[in-house]
Amino acid sequence: MLKTKSKDKIFADKKDKMSDFNFGKETAGVFDDMLERSVPFYKELQRMMCEIAVDFAADGTNIYDLGCSTGITLFNIYEAVKKDVKYIGIDSSQDMLDRCRARFSGNNSTNQYSLICTDLNNGVNITNASVVVMNLTLQFVRPLHREQLIKNICNGLNTNGCLILLEKVLGNNSDFNRMFIKYYYEMKKRNGYTELEIAQKREALENILIPYRLDENKDLLKKSGFAHCDTFFKWYNFCGLVALKSSFR
Ligand SMILES: C[S@@+](CC[C@H](N)C(=O)[O-])C[C@H]1O[C@@H](n2cnc3c(N)ncnc32)[C@H](O)[C@@H]1O
Repeated sequence: MLKTKSKDKIFADKKDKMSDFNFGKETAGVFDDMLERSVPFYKELQRMMCEIAVDFAADGTNIYDLGCSTGITLFNIYEAVKKDVKYIGIDSSQDMLDRCRARFSGNNSTNQYSLICTDLNNGVNITNASVVVMNLTLQFVRPLHREQLIKNICNGLNTNGCLILLEKVLGNNSDFNRMFIKYYYEMKKRNGYTELEIAQKREALENILIPYRLDENKDLLKKSGFAHCDTFFKWYNFCGLVALKSSFR
């Protein structure tokens, strides 16, 4: 049985030369711990995403998790939704997907899931979807490709479907941004990360995690075809949005 929660010490030692953060084997091996100690209200967010997914999931449809990593969210939704649904996890890291597969098979899940290794920068093929989740993934898709990706999602969602989008966000100006990031790093310290770990990870993420402001994300959803969206979660530099194609449910 795969050990799923090794402690994240990736940035604990001083690195002479910092390279870009990646989602390879080393990160995949400690990712569950990394998420739990780096995302505010992690367990509550999981609960909320499941709660929303349960409401929108419909028999005979697909539920997608884009950037599913080791499958925590996808598996929690799988356990929460009591419907005849197929679960599809997509990620560009095979190491993450291997862990995701181990999570499903280690829990004797049925074969109602499939895992696809592909780069979301090239768009995505979504069909017959009642729920699409993007939990802290859009921020890693290059800005140039985000609108096309969100359009693909909107087109592939059924009329009554929803997109659940969680993102790191920028504050509305540089003062708020500085404040929010300071409070975020205080949270990481409370969760056991050292100043060195925080600083080195920040540097490693600099070129690959590109957050938008909350209103920019809302605009993106609207111009990509979503009729409605609202904020279901906001904590300093994190926000959760739920977007609907139609208000007729
Ligand atoms: C912060 S993690 C997401 C956490 C995950 N959604 C969860 O709920 O546990 C970001 C994930 O997105 C994946 N990713 C980043 N860029 C991607 C891309 N261009 N295409 C597909 N997956 C990507 C990474 O491999 C990583 O597993």
